[in-house]
Order: sequence, then C-alpha cells, then structure tokens
Amino acid sequence: LRGPLLTFREDPGGEDQPEAGSILYLEDGALWLDHGHVRAVDDYTRLAPRLPAGIEVVDYAGKLMMPGFIDSHVHYVQLDIMAAYGRQLLDWLNEYTFPEECRFAERDYAEPVAEAFLDELLRAGTTTAQVFCSSHPVSVESFFVAAHRRGLRMLAGKVLMDRNAPEALTDTALGGIRDTERLIGDWHGKGRLSYSLTPRFAPTSTRRQLDATGSLLRNAPDLYLQTHLAENRGEIDWVAELFPEAFDYLDVYERHGLVGPRSTFAHGIHLTQDARARLADAGANIAFCPTSNLFLGSGLFDRLACRKAGLAVSLASDVGAGTDLCGLGTLKAAYQVGQLLGQPLTAWQGFYHLTLGNARALQLDAHIGSLREGAEADIVVLDPRATPLLARRTARANSLGERLFALMMLGDDRAIYETWAGGKCQHRRA
Ligand code: GUN
Ligand code: FE
Repeated sequence: LRGPLLTFREDPGGEDQPEAGSILYLEDGALWLDHGHVRAVDDYTRLAPRLPAGIEVVDYAGKLMMPGFIDSHVHYVQLDIMAAYGRQLLDWLNEYTFPEECRFAERDYAEPVAEAFLDELLRAGTTTAQVFCSSHPVSVESFFVAAHRRGLRMLAGKVLMDRNAPEALTDTALGGIRDTERLIGDWHGKGRLSYSLTPRFAPTSTRRQLDATGSLLRNAPDLYLQTHLAENRGEIDWVAELFPEAFDYLDVYERHGLVGPRSTFAHGIHLTQDARARLADAGANIAFCPTSNLFLGSGLFDRLACRKAGLAVSLASDVGAGTDLCGLGTLKAAYQVGQLLGQPLTAWQGFYHLTLGNARALQLDAHIGSLREGAEADIVVLDPRATPLLARRTARANSLGERLFALMMLGDDRAIYETWAGGKCQHRRA
C-alpha cells in the first residue's frame, strides 16, 4: 500500500506539538503486506527496489493510512437500541437494554446482529474491540464465529449477572462460571480471539459470582476482564447499599480479585484520586466513553486527573449508550468534554489513543496499534477530502496537526475510505 502514512511510536504527550520521535509520518510511504502482517514500512522510493517483481501496488495518494482503530468497550447486543430517548443509566438499562438483550437467547436473532455489528465496525475504521455480549452463551458463540470468519482481532465475553435483572437474563453464580469456562476453552486464543471475563457491574452480581470470577482470573492471568465502574450517582449509591462492607465502589472489585493489568473499567467518572491511584498501581485502565457519558448525562470524565495518577485511559464508544461507533465521533466528543473541563484533547493525543494508546491499555501492542515491521496488518485509510466541507477545510489546513484535527471534528464514517484487517481489504466506501 503506497501513500501518506501516520503511526505512533510513543505517547505524543499533552502539548500542542507531539514529542520528538513519538510519531512516524511518511508523505509518500509504503506498507509491504505479507501473510496478514506488515513486512516492511518505509518511504516508497526506498522500499520499491526491495519489492518482489509483480507485487500489486495500491496507490492512496491524497489519503492517509493509519493503524486500524481500537474500541476498548462496546456492547454488540445494543446495536439496535442506540439512541433510545430520555433516560439515565439505571432506567435506561431497565427500559431499553435488558428487554433487548433478552432476545439474544436465540441464535437466529444473535447471528445477524453480530454480522451487522462487525460490518458497522469496519465501516467505522475499527478493527479491534473489547465487546460485551449478552448473558446467553449463544450470543458469544455467534459473535466469535463471525469475528473468526473475518480474521479480526477481537476480545469478548459472556455477561455474568446473577441478580437484579430480568429472569431471562440472569444466570447463577456457578452456572455462569461453568458457561464462561466452556467459552474460554472454545475461543480464548483461537486465531486472533481472546476471552474477556464480563461481570456486568457490581449491582448485578452476587459476592459468590464475583469471587468465582476472581478465581478464574487468578488461575489464568492471560484472560481479560471488563466491567463498569462509577458511571452514575444513582448506581454508586446502589452499590454502597448492596456492599456495605466495601469502603468505595472500586473496593468491591478489589475484594474479589478483579483488578489487574488486563482489567478494563468502563467510565470511572466519579472516582477519588485515591481510587485512581489504586487502579494505576494494579495496571488497570479506564475506558473513557465520551458519547455515552454525554448521552446518559453521566458526567464529565477528568482525563488529566487520571494522567496525574499514572492511570491508563483507553477510548471507547460504549454503543448502545454511545451514539457513534466511529472513532472520529468518539474523538470529537472527547474534545468537547475536555473543553468543558479546561483540558482540550489534541489531535495527536486523540489519534494516539485510538491506536497505540488503546493497544497498550489492552496489552495488545505486541500485535496491533502501530504500523511497524511484524505488526498485524490492520489498517484504516482515511480520506481528508471525503465531503465537500472536509475537502475545503483540510485544503486550508497548514499542517498535519491541523488536518488531523479537522478530520476528528468534522469527519465521520464517510471519511473512512477503506479498512484492512488481517492483511485483507474488508471495507471499501461505496
Ligand atoms: N452499566 C451496567 N451495564 C451497563 C450498560 O450496558 N451500559 C452502560 N453504559 N453502563 C452499564
Ligand atoms: Fe458499557
């Protein structure tokens, strides 16, 4: 693939200009793809003499190649309840989310949604996501089968919830763990798939279920874990009632051994600096879900307080509470939230988080997140002239930084020209 290419080597820092050496930008770059991997990255004129005779060269002049976007927290089973009006978290779960998730007990319902979800992800430039399924094992199988067939790197898990939810969605402490163990055996490490233990959040699990989940994680530290934390005031009060022995929300998860270096906690809006420091010590990450936090009125996420605590932040759509699957939309909302707190997000920070930052937060950076020799060939090709307005605005931009910022504020899935995953073009804009 030949054309302009941008990839991060390090965190570019929070200043207006990226730190020296943190990015690689090639105006006329080339990626040599071979068996699903990047075999070489260089200026086209330097790479061309090394290429085998007859190799196909795809030209992306005027476009911009970047590593495929990563979404650290999203619910595939909520695709069709996006934009459900007018509620905050707990009412939204009861009114819209739980009734929809009940339908995923049927394979015939789950399979087409899993396919549609992956189509939408690829249309949005996202090649890897950490995904909540429903509490039904068949919803997980449907998702993994679809992701495996496409050769995508995906993390997913069966929701564990054994209380405070409709009967059709609740498992039992031991039944949920047995199903989880079977799914791990079938899918964890198969191709590019990984299993993420998925207790929904503290209010919907008994202590027994949380304990059993912690045991699984302790015995298999290469598993991931995903859950929700401190998203909404009503939720936090409820957790305090249900777990009077815990001194804060995070302590519930700590007591049951759920906080580790492969644990992702969605939201973490209402946290003390002490809780942030404990998360940082454990090497966990918080998934910042700006469109979701705005949609549900959950609060403004303080990214800089996390940075000060040394706590890794990943970026996520959190669809169906999120209103945009596309990373560009997530960046736009992250910028807006930042502005309200006096901490605007630079385009450098934003695109770093969508790619290498998220890969590092999820401990996937050995495989994905940057365009370098040996990386898996997951690539998004952006089109800075996707719409007449974008074309006008990016033509006026005086620097790469300005062009990237215009893309993140004015771009949407029309700016995703192609998405490659596992070395194959899997989406091309119509
Ligand atoms: N907390 C528990 N479940 C959910 C969910 O499905 N979405 C969001 N945004 N928060 C949650
Ligand atoms: Fe969520």
